[in-house]
Amino acid sequence: MTDVRAVALVTGASAGLGAAFARKLAARGCDLILVARRTDRLENLAAELRTAHGASARVWPADLADEAAVAGIEARIRALDRLDYLINNAGFGVRGYFFDSSIQRQTEMVRVHILASMRLAYAALPGMIARRHGYIINVSSLGSFMGMPGNVNYNATKAYLNTFSQGLARELAGMGVRVQALCPGFTVTEFHDTPAYANLRARERIPRFFWDPADRVVEASLRHLEHGPVIYVPFLKNQVIALGGKLGMIGLLFGILSGWFRKRA
Ligand SMILES: NC(=O)c1ccc[n+]([C@@H]2O[C@H](COP(=O)([O-])OP(=O)(O)OC[C@H]3O[C@@H](n4cnc5c(N)ncnc54)[C@H](OP(=O)(O)O)[C@@H]3O)[C@@H](O)[C@H]2O)c1
Repeated sequence: MTDVRAVALVTGASAGLGAAFARKLAARGCDLILVARRTDRLENLAAELRTAHGASARVWPADLADEAAVAGIEARIRALDRLDYLINNAGFGVRGYFFDSSIQRQTEMVRVHILASMRLAYAALPGMIARRHGYIINVSSLGSFMGMPGNVNYNATKAYLNTFSQGLARELAGMGVRVQALCPGFTVTEFHDTPAYANLRARERIPRFFWDPADRVVEASLRHLEHGPVIYVPFLKNQVIALGGKLGMIGLLFGILSGWFRKRA
């Protein structure tokens, strides 16, 4: 029997959770396709994965806010012999009240979080269904369970990913394809270091208890992929917050957090 390696495509692989997914999947014996804009970072990660895990690692640079670039990735996905994991992870935040923010950035967020994830899933699914094997992880957020001032469109795009994943998982039941909407809480990545968040000093101001390392979040996601819930919130503290959000009892914590965002927006 030939030893056929699984293939995983990770968007937003140049940093944070995406790089952690790539490392974890390579360690599990997958070959990787790395997608993001910063080619140098992707090339460095690809070299690391080849050396550390003997993985074949391809770099597909793309700006997922760009229609033509997404079409290019779709075409390359359709041309693959196999794709076992699609990790729709690329994402970013836009700081400040919606009505005061850049509509171009908000539109890009919808393109990256919603349109790119939806279209790459559409491109990947025929092959996965035909082989009766595949996993799609849409990286959502704890923010998907609430509408917070200063984070309106971010929360809404992530809520889309939850609903999309839930429905898709039901459609695919019995077809061998698993779907997860991963809803991390505060995770140590570059997300809060990007220009939109840099001067908020989130890691200093939000208690350490709430922060999780990216590799722990990824580990938990993959552990729950086969048998866990479709909308997966890692760790008890975040599950409590998500429940509060779902019940509309955002209360004290998010009153405090939204005040925090408002003051610094
Ligand atoms: N960190 C948190 O606390 C947290 C919590 C909940 C959910 N999340 C979600 O986790 C996901 C990963 O974020 P992270 O925390 O790992 O942040 P990060 O360290 O800033 O990484 C974000 C990744 O997304 C990529 N990306 C952003 N815009 C892109 C575009 N237009 N085209 C292609 N790639 C793009 C970036 O690559 P390039 O810049 O090289 O293109 C980078 O690889 C996001 O969807 C985020 O919403 C994060």
